[in-house]
Formats: sequence, structure tokens, C-alpha cells
Amino acid sequence: MRNPNTSSSSLSFVAAKSQQQPQQHQQPAQRSTAATGEPLSEFGREMQAGLSRTPRSISPKFFYDAAGSQLFDRICELPEYYPTRTELRILGECAGEIAGQIGPNAEIVEFGAGSLTKVRLLLDALETPKRYLPIDISGEHLEAAAERLKADYPKLVVQPIAADYTMPLVLPAPMAGAGRRVGFFPGSTIGNFEPDEALAFLQLAARMLRGGGLLIGVDLVKDPARLHAAYNDAQGVTGEFNLNLLRRANAELDADFDLDGFTHAAFYNAPRQRIEMHLVSRRAQNVSLKGEQFGFEEGETIHTEYSHKFTVEGLRALAVRAGFRPGAVWTDPEKLFSVHWLLA
Ligand SMILES: C[S@@+](CC[C@H](N)C(=O)[O-])C[C@H]1O[C@@H](n2cnc3c(N)ncnc32)[C@H](O)[C@@H]1O
Repeated sequence: MRNPNTSSSSLSFVAAKSQQQPQQHQQPAQRSTAATGEPLSEFGREMQAGLSRTPRSISPKFFYDAAGSQLFDRICELPEYYPTRTELRILGECAGEIAGQIGPNAEIVEFGAGSLTKVRLLLDALETPKRYLPIDISGEHLEAAAERLKADYPKLVVQPIAADYTMPLVLPAPMAGAGRRVGFFPGSTIGNFEPDEALAFLQLAARMLRGGGLLIGVDLVKDPARLHAAYNDAQGVTGEFNLNLLRRANAELDADFDLDGFTHAAFYNAPRQRIEMHLVSRRAQNVSLKGEQFGFEEGETIHTEYSHKFTVEGLRALAVRAGFRPGAVWTDPEKLFSVHWLLA
């Protein structure tokens, strides 16, 4: 169920975050109308604010329109992109043990559910799962994936929720006879948050899942060359995914980004243990968005995504701070990726 008060909650989340930003970030006030006076969508407000601040940045959640979700699915198939196949392998090999921790008649709430691929491994191993509530911001893609899942699991109650999981959500009351309510947060999507946001999200999840647990997939710190390759694939799909943000702004916000005028850049910031993804202006240029002009110098960037990497101990310590009791952890033999069971 969607929080009816989404837009004001969104602003309060952004405000809470901005108080903890380093001083060098200049935070412009968000405007609710365009230069033309017409109301702005959340994407429009955040794009306008993101292009007005120094340095420029926008939340990665706006990657995911239907085209962005499809591009992400292509990333998951890339030879360089080890996280998806490693997590699938861990889930496949350890599904029996994971199901034992979760118990019978569970209700699974998935955050950022995407194409609903990984949950199938859990559903196949769980004893009589009752209900599945996948949450995703990419509504059209979610609906289509949920229809496919319903057809394959006719006994399971599947209720997709098109919503932003950083907002307080009112979930449906547990079904009669339901077992644990368990959150599922695979794909190391937790790494897209800044550290203070990751803590805030886990605190929200711990409250939402009290009495149940959270199964979370987390990418581990590793050789920077391997990380660099994963976010700079030879086929250029990650670059297309990054540039899709500008394509989306052109389609939805009357923007005129020249897609050949910007290029994808991703690098590992070792002290911060994160991949940073940016769109770099190839030349000095002006861009118009909803009637407002934004000038770019050659080489100026829009920051579009962080992908923080964790140690097993670091994630467990964060979970404790958020109010979870860490349980079992499963990893692959190369220790590329980890899946954690956290009791709420
Ligand atoms: C990195 S992908 C992971 C997809 C899938 N869970 C997996 O493991 O392959 C992130 C997913 O989270 C969704 N997403 C990102 N930010 C979101 C937000 N704030 N609220 C809801 N969904 C979000 C995206 O649409 C996308 O499907």
C-alpha cells in the first residue's frame, strides 16, 4: 500500500539527509513548480535541485523507468557483472538452510524487487510461503514481472506494491495463519545509499519487520580491478544505463540533453569503499530542463550512483546499530558476495 503522503515525506527525507551532507555541498531549495509555473513531478523537482547544487547529483532511484529496469536486467547478464550470478549461486546452494531460518508460512516483503528473479529460489525452498509483497519504484516493470510470477506460483498470494521504499510504508496486516514477515533486499542495493541513509533504511526495515527478519545480499570489498571491470563493461551496457537518466529527463521533463555530449564514468573510491558513477560533460554546453538553463563546463559531472562495498563484519555492525540481531551469513568460496540473515 502506498503512503498517501509521498511528496511531503520525500521532502522531509531529503531535508534530513541534507543536514548531514559535508559543507562543500551547496544544497538548493527544492521547487515545486518549473520556471514556466507548471507543477513538477518528484523526478522534475529532484532533477532541478540536483542540477542546481554543487557538485551536481541525482538519486539512482531515477534510473528506473521501464527502459532503465530492462537495461539493469541486461547488466545482470554481463560477464563482468559478478554480483548477480554470485548471489544467485549463494541463494541456490544455501536455499535449504535459509528456508530453515525463515520457517513455514512466511510472508516475504522484497525491497527493490526488479524482475523478481532471485525470490524464486527462496520460494522454491520455503515451506508453504503464504504471501509475497514485492516493492519497486518501477511500477510498469514490476506489474509485468508479478504477472509472470503469479502464473508460475498459483498458490502464492502475490501483491506488488509500486512505491518508494525510502518512504514510510503501510503494509497490509499479516494474513491469518501467516508465519514470519521477512524482508528480502538482494542485489546489494543497500550499497546505493550513503552510510547515514543505509542506517536510516535499516532502522525503518527493523521496525517494519519486528518479530521477523531481513535477508540481505551485500557485495564485499575486493580487488579494485574486478570492481572497475564490473561497472565499465566492454559492451557499454552500464554506460547506456547511466545515460538513460538523461534520456528519461528528455522524455519526461522537456529537457534537451545531447546524449552524445555526455559520457559514462565509473571508478572505485578506495578510502570510501565505493564505486562512484558519474555522467561527464564532453564539452562546454547548455542544457534546458522545464524552461530553465543549466551550463556545463567541459569535464563537469553529474553524480548518479554510489555502490558501497562492505566487509561481513561491517554489515553486521551496521545491522546491530539499526536494531537487528545478526544471524547466519552465507558467502561464495571467493568471498565476492555475502547474504545475511538478520533477526528483527
Ligand atoms: C540494483 S536493482 C536490484 C534488482 C533486484 N533486486 C536484483 O537483486 O537483481 C535495484 C532495484 O530497486 C529498485 N529501486 C531503486 N530505488 C528504489 C526506491 N527508492 N524505492 C523502490 N524501489 C527502488 C529499482 O527499480 C530496481 O528494480
